[in-house]
Amino acid sequence: MIDATTTPAWGKLARLASELTPDLRGWFDADPGRAQRFSFDAADLRVDLSKNLLTDELLAALVELGEQVELPARRDAMFAGQRINVTENRSVLHTALRRPESDSLIVEGRDVVADVHEVLAKVYAFADKIRSGQWKGVTGKPIQTIVNIGIGGSDLGPVMVYEALRPYVQPGLECRFVSNIDPTDLALKTQDLDPETTLFIVASKTFTTLETLTNARLAKAWLLETLAKQGAPAGSEAIAKHFVAVSTASDLVAAFGIDPANAFGFWDWVGGRYSVDSAVGTAVAVAVGPQRFAEFLAGFHAVDRHFAETPLERNVPALMGLLNVWYVDFLHAASHAVLPYAQSLHRFAAYLQQLTMESNGKGVRLDGTPVTSATGEIFWGEPGTNGQHAFYQLIHQGTALIPADFIAVATPAYPLKDGPTDVHELFLSNFFAQTKALAFGKTADEVRAEGTPEAIVPARVFPGNRPTTSIMAPALTPSVVGQLIALYEHITFTQGVVWGIDSFDQWGVELGKQLALQIAPAVGGDQAALQAQDASTKALVEYYRAHRG
Ligand code: F6P
Repeated sequence: MIDATTTPAWGKLARLASELTPDLRGWFDADPGRAQRFSFDAADLRVDLSKNLLTDELLAALVELGEQVELPARRDAMFAGQRINVTENRSVLHTALRRPESDSLIVEGRDVVADVHEVLAKVYAFADKIRSGQWKGVTGKPIQTIVNIGIGGSDLGPVMVYEALRPYVQPGLECRFVSNIDPTDLALKTQDLDPETTLFIVASKTFTTLETLTNARLAKAWLLETLAKQGAPAGSEAIAKHFVAVSTASDLVAAFGIDPANAFGFWDWVGGRYSVDSAVGTAVAVAVGPQRFAEFLAGFHAVDRHFAETPLERNVPALMGLLNVWYVDFLHAASHAVLPYAQSLHRFAAYLQQLTMESNGKGVRLDGTPVTSATGEIFWGEPGTNGQHAFYQLIHQGTALIPADFIAVATPAYPLKDGPTDVHELFLSNFFAQTKALAFGKTADEVRAEGTPEAIVPARVFPGNRPTTSIMAPALTPSVVGQLIALYEHITFTQGVVWGIDSFDQWGVELGKQLALQIAPAVGGDQAALQAQDASTKALVEYYRAHRG
């Protein structure tokens, strides 16, 4: 397999890095076409890369790197359904989830697009029944609250998209999301609910996840006990009306007591963190309705087509992924901030953390050999302007290089005014100002010119040359939310291809799960199990047992 570090492009990038003298002020002054030349469109997304530590020569070298690691061929293999997830011997076909019904894609003898639309039709019919009130709880009342029980990909995507699309949610319907096995999560999310108007979606690809199955059992007990207290029917007829499932494991769904007729399937070729556009998004489909959900899928598909069809020189996800490689491997950035100037995207960074870090936090390559360069930067962020009053200090004046993506939309969902001031415009002014400050900084002379005492001039200097990408869209529509997710999915893919890793497995999460099951008896008081632990774990468990309430 290709080792990116042995390609001519890698050598060129290493040279460019050693010669680099970042000068965004100078680069912009000398080159009036810079902003336009480094701005690109992908579907409705305008992406301005011009405030990155990027030159024409560098961009060309990044494109060469993409070609020399055969990014286009790897991308095509993914879209075609080849088994590129080698450690799990699976195809990687989240892109099939958003293909239009008129398409077809035959993979190993099956039309996966037909399969996708068969499930979508079932999800949409269910969503319509809940939304119209035709689906009634066991006592005949319509459903008002959907509680999605899932974790990881079966939670982060649905929560993030639900929050992003709150303005589109049908009045009178609410979704809640329970993920943590900390019993506080389920207790707080159900404490004020009426079981007669509540429906649980148990979402788990494997239907074996400890957290989800434990919470599902707790929810079942809560439902049946509370219904019984209210004198309502509290047996299997209640489960049938108040529990549905989303899973690839229909046998385990049935074993849990959920009627397979009330289960929505998906396939092993959909990774958990790539699954919000499958039946895993059922809570969202119910909340915003089939029409909006279809627009959401169409947004993904528009960016898929851009990624699949655009030459690398203008291919936004490919360029952003290659730029990330530049920062991680050549400029030694350890993290990447994602800063949405859209309150509705307040869970976007949390969602991206699983997408990017579970995908690319890998130390071995596809052939089992160790990686040959740094991989998998830390993604993090908070919405602007909140982050400005918290951690931006470090991005502006700290010693670490932190590339940052700024995301904003032109049209707000709620166009409020503060007297004559359009508050969204004030908000956007911050979005524009921050990338400007990060790029161009403030020199000592500029600080002095403001009359600053000499002793504190150094503390008030902004070095600038802090790289940012600005992403703008007309509005946070369902389509744009789908576009943003697909953008980051393909950025993640691009980085994984350069690093030669399997971006679609997640073996690193397994050891902790196994050990938790082994330690559980010790926590419960089993002396033999306690003695078998290492000294630190033993002492901590003993502390717990001495202090539990
Ligand atoms: O533990 C990690 C993980 O396997 C994720 O990849 C996945 O999204 C999550 O657990 C939940 O898995 P499931 O949907 O099978 O319950």
